[in-house]
Amino acid sequence: MDKATWTTHNVDQTARALLERDSRVYIHQSGSTPCLSAIRHAHGVWLEDVSGHRYMDFHGNSCHHLGYGHPRLIAAVKRQLDELPFTPRRFTDEPAVVLAERLAALWPGAPGKVLLTTGGSDAVEVALKLARAATGRYKTLSFLDSYHGSGFGAISVGGRDQDRSPRLGPLLPGALHVPPFYRRPADDTTIPVDAESWAKASLEAIEQAFARERDIAAVIAEPIRSTPHIPAAWFWPRIRALCDEHGTALIFDEIATGLGKTGRLFVSEHLDVVPDITVLGKSLGGGVLPIAAVIANPAFDVAPQLRLGHYTHEKNPVTSRAALATLQVIEEEELVKHAAHAGARALARLQDMASRQPLVRGVRGRGLLMAVELTRACAESVMFRALDKGLSLSATEGRHLTLSPPLVIAEHEMGQALDILEHALDEEKADSG
Ligand SMILES: Cc1ncc(COP(=O)(O)O)c(C=O)c1O
Repeated sequence: MDKATWTTHNVDQTARALLERDSRVYIHQSGSTPCLSAIRHAHGVWLEDVSGHRYMDFHGNSCHHLGYGHPRLIAAVKRQLDELPFTPRRFTDEPAVVLAERLAALWPGAPGKVLLTTGGSDAVEVALKLARAATGRYKTLSFLDSYHGSGFGAISVGGRDQDRSPRLGPLLPGALHVPPFYRRPADDTTIPVDAESWAKASLEAIEQAFARERDIAAVIAEPIRSTPHIPAAWFWPRIRALCDEHGTALIFDEIATGLGKTGRLFVSEHLDVVPDITVLGKSLGGGVLPIAAVIANPAFDVAPQLRLGHYTHEKNPVTSRAALATLQVIEEEELVKHAAHAGARALARLQDMASRQPLVRGVRGRGLLMAVELTRACAESVMFRALDKGLSLSATEGRHLTLSPPLVIAEHEMGQALDILEHALDEEKADSG
């Protein structure tokens, strides 16, 4: 199914009118505007659009760990709005201090030191600045086709075509790229090379870069790629050792994958590696407010004379309260453990589906971050079929479907979603013969 067919089935007059106004007033950009439909209600794992269609959200921009509208989060934010709605710079406030203390203590390299920003892209800028300030160097090493946000720093270290173009002029100097530990869409998909071999090739490229350039400030990467791609267990310890040997900072971008999605609070807890800097965002604001965080080894607190992340909402009590309430709900409702167990059960069901479904080449996952790899590049069509039946997931890299449900998902909801996926795959196979 393509977008036009889906639109004909699903976008009624009310939605169309809003989409047209949206498209007239917003500056168009890849992946954002024009939009598919308009949402009027979100609750738990469900989205409802203005035409009355309901979708289980297995995408959620990775912001919906708590599901939508978690009552404890909403109540905490409302209370905070009444108590203290804003704190101008030069002052601090209790929610911002308690949040930073909490993040600093939870971080695997605890105790860390913290800066808060309004969004993930800003947090990546801060992390890159910290690495430059601490090392006195400017070069970075990152993965081709990675995504770290929309700022100039982030698109310099990120490598996707939609994000960077000669039209934007020069980006940051010294941004070096190497192949990641997984197969990219541009790589030949007909060659059956296992994950171990991709990781070895990536390590080799990184070793060569370190041998060639002796002054790399930082390696920045998603430790588990959010689509997801999961590295071999030996991969990150080797990179950590190289960084230590060369005085290079290791920055883990856990903006999309952190806070329990993979079945551990921090992704680095799976990897036997402590980074120098971790960047969190997205779900930190509970799917309600924008807030991101940079947590760093105190050795990176070396530039008090610089405005490293002098952002207006740096110590906003309301966004801080949302983040604190989010952390509290994750802890008290044991959502990390739930993500690990629910993810393992879902992956077993996907593996069973793969054994029966000729369109599926394989499945992979960690916690509630899962992917289905298809035998041909029809992921977008399957995505629209699933959307048509009430499941929103993402299609990436032509052949991959990413499933990223909220941490609060109930077993019956997961079952319902996987039934829809199976139905969409069956339909795709039947239609394509
Ligand atoms: C891995 C990763 N890093 C950084 C960002 C940027 O975060 P934001 O959109 O909040 O600026 C994103 C957003 O999708 C992301 O997925």
